Amino acid sequence: MAAYNIAVLPGDGIGPEITREAIKVLDAVGRKFSLTFSYRFADFGGIAFDRHGHPFPDATKSICDAADAIMKGPIGGPKYDTLPDVMMRPEAGALLPLRRRYDTFANLRPVVLQRSIQDASPLKPERLGKGVDILMIRELVGGIYFGRKVEPAEQARDEKGEWYALDECRYTESQVKRIARVAFRQARQRNSPLHNIHKANVLATSRFWNLIVQDVQKTEFPGVEMRNMLVDSAATALVTNPSQFGVMLLENMQGDILTDEGGGILGSLGLMPSACLNPETGRGYYEPAHGSAPDIAGQNTANPYSQIGSAAMMLAIRFGLQREADAVWAAMLKVFGDGYRTGEIKTPNTPLEKIVSTSQFGDLVAENVSRVEVGR
Ligand code: IPM
Ligand code: MN
Repeated sequence: MAAYNIAVLPGDGIGPEITREAIKVLDAVGRKFSLTFSYRFADFGGIAFDRHGHPFPDATKSICDAADAIMKGPIGGPKYDTLPDVMMRPEAGALLPLRRRYDTFANLRPVVLQRSIQDASPLKPERLGKGVDILMIRELVGGIYFGRKVEPAEQARDEKGEWYALDECRYTESQVKRIARVAFRQARQRNSPLHNIHKANVLATSRFWNLIVQDVQKTEFPGVEMRNMLVDSAATALVTNPSQFGVMLLENMQGDILTDEGGGILGSLGLMPSACLNPETGRGYYEPAHGSAPDIAGQNTANPYSQIGSAAMMLAIRFGLQREADAVWAAMLKVFGDGYRTGEIKTPNTPLEKIVSTSQFGDLVAENVSRVEVGR
């Protein structure tokens, strides 16, 4: 039987330890369902800069190009934040180029608070209402992150002789159309209204965005309800009444910020898996929404849920292995249901023996995968 070829980019900080657990779980899935996952590891981010002098070396590009899917850990760290050449830093030199290379314009970030860990959320139970089950959809290859820049090092001067820097924000019609379609399809599938998030009271790109999104709705998705909401207002609504949201559509930078707020509502960014997709080509990569947490790297305390969840998204989205993905989600749910917590989401009520390390969490999930009942 053919193997599923996965490029694994463990990355920096806690990356290697959490990707190890994701692989542990994938191997358990493989054993249970008689599937073969084969892995090719490649350096990416700070580690690649250290070893090869570039954060996204050609050898890594070839491994990614040849793989059926890419599983990526978090990257970056303080060590690289001050590299004088911005293009050698992990974000500008590796992550954004990876997104551009595969044109992964659709970033799906589910914000889901499992019932058994509701008390991990900093929100009061009455604020949580019916619970939190949001799919945030972030445009990932346009807007200000990919616009023209004038760096401080360029020493640019304006007409008054003032030193300045610049980030240009631009969206084209096709860029907005394609992400809007992804969002409307998801909203229709979930039978949920679509919250279109914007800053049209100030930004021309937001006014443009809204025009295009509205047109896509009218012409292609008249049956899906759309609600427009200002991004600052949405930031408040997310903490005062998060259960009003089902599917949210966000441009790149606003999405970057509100998806982290999503992690805040859950109580941990370690609960934030994500998929970065080009649904038109099928190419994509799967990564946690959080950073490399250098302060706790190597301690075996990080929560690998986000990385394992990203692997589950890969199974379902890239390989069409929905039943297998469901087994992973059920297995993780059971770990929490059995009372286990990683350290960052423990509460005063969590018994000491239920606080688990990164590798213990992975062991428990893998064990549960082999046991959970899944139907076709
Ligand atoms: C994310 C990260 C990245 C982003 C950084 C590391 C460039 O914060 O994936 O959300 O801003 O997109
Ligand atoms: Mn971010």
